[in-house]
Amino acid sequence: MREVRTQVVIVGAGPAGLVLGHLLHLQGVDNIVLERRTRDYVEHRQRAGVLEYGITEMLAEAGVGERMRREGLAHHGIQLRFENGAHRINFLELADGRAITVYGQQEVVKDLIGLRLNFHGAALHFESEVRAIEGIDTERPFVDANTPEGPLRIHAAYVAGCDGTHGVTGQSVPALVRRRFERVYPFAWLGILAQAAPVNDELIYSRHERGFALYSMRSPELVRLYLGVAPDENLADWSDERIWDELATRLGEGAHGQLQTGPILERGITAMRNIVLEPLRHGRLVLAGDAAHIVPPTGAKGMNLALADVRVLVPALVAALRENDTRLLDAYSDTCLRHVWRAEEFSTYMTQMLHPNPHDEFENRVQLARLRQVVESEPTARALARHYVDACSL
Ligand code: APR
Ligand code: PHB
Repeated sequence: MREVRTQVVIVGAGPAGLVLGHLLHLQGVDNIVLERRTRDYVEHRQRAGVLEYGITEMLAEAGVGERMRREGLAHHGIQLRFENGAHRINFLELADGRAITVYGQQEVVKDLIGLRLNFHGAALHFESEVRAIEGIDTERPFVDANTPEGPLRIHAAYVAGCDGTHGVTGQSVPALVRRRFERVYPFAWLGILAQAAPVNDELIYSRHERGFALYSMRSPELVRLYLGVAPDENLADWSDERIWDELATRLGEGAHGQLQTGPILERGITAMRNIVLEPLRHGRLVLAGDAAHIVPPTGAKGMNLALADVRVLVPALVAALRENDTRLLDAYSDTCLRHVWRAEEFSTYMTQMLHPNPHDEFENRVQLARLRQVVESEPTARALARHYVDACSL
């Protein structure tokens, strides 16, 4: 078996692993990123596309904000629709003028991969799956991966688990110290990417009695739309016509012009749940991003949370490796869990407020009371706006 050595071995080339690798490289920390999928796959995987204010600043400071600033869409508000009314949450007034940026996760991923491979020449191996992580309780951990060139063992001072949901790294924390918190929802999202011009220039979250709907976009030619559906919904039961009809009904066609339809380029069903693994560090293993926590997509916190972890992790690893000072690393898990649980709470709040439950009229009345409170009480609207715009940096 081939063997190599680095300072930090990073498992997974999603936003968490790529930003971590990039920032460590800028600090002179040698690292290797291993990704089990192909480059093409990770560059085209459809995911959420809303970046918080503080996270866009982080990307710009890291030197990967140029295309995001040019092509990303700055939004200064969102719209909430319920009981046939449309209400704007104005970030200029309620969130100190800060904006969110609508920019697809796969675009962030493309920018980072391009920079790493074309300019930095730092190690990033695709089609390289990590099969085992050993020695995290010692000072000499290593990972074993299957690469296109055969098996590879990488020795490192630290292993960073950025391998997303159900990754191998999260399971490497011994069961005795690991705690897992989970909530599953009785619905899922059917999402489409369609070639159509956005008719509204901000996101619309709609709570309709037939179910949830979300209007989002990727560019002046592409819309991203979602419908709340049953968790076991069969995609084959949804013709294009049925999808567009349901979207028009739930979004309240007519309130802001006709819903522009167009060819559906991609479609899929996403489960909705919360997961948090504690702690985010054990010995020489650190977890970041979806490897450690999942949020339901209402509120678009997933990628922001992944990058917020990395923002805490980089100085901690640098201090440990350069000065042998592990204080920040010792605090890493607790520091992250504050923003993790804040984002879990906000995503849960948004999810529970916007998805009607056909079997629970009490719950439905509570949801409507909550929505009315948002639009009638400024402190409540302000709290929603601040969390929407910057929960991971509060
Ligand atoms: N070996 C190598 N790579 C792996 C392994 C493994 N054993 N297991 C998983 N991976 C890779 C996956 O193929 C994926 O590309 O790890 C990567 C994890 O990336 P993401 O799933 O994008 O997770 P993360 O970087 O934490 O970003 C979180 O992703 O799911 C969205 O909503 C979420 O926006 C959030 C973001
Ligand atoms: C998206 O554009 O994909 C998106 C936007 C807002 C969300 C979730 C997803 O809450």
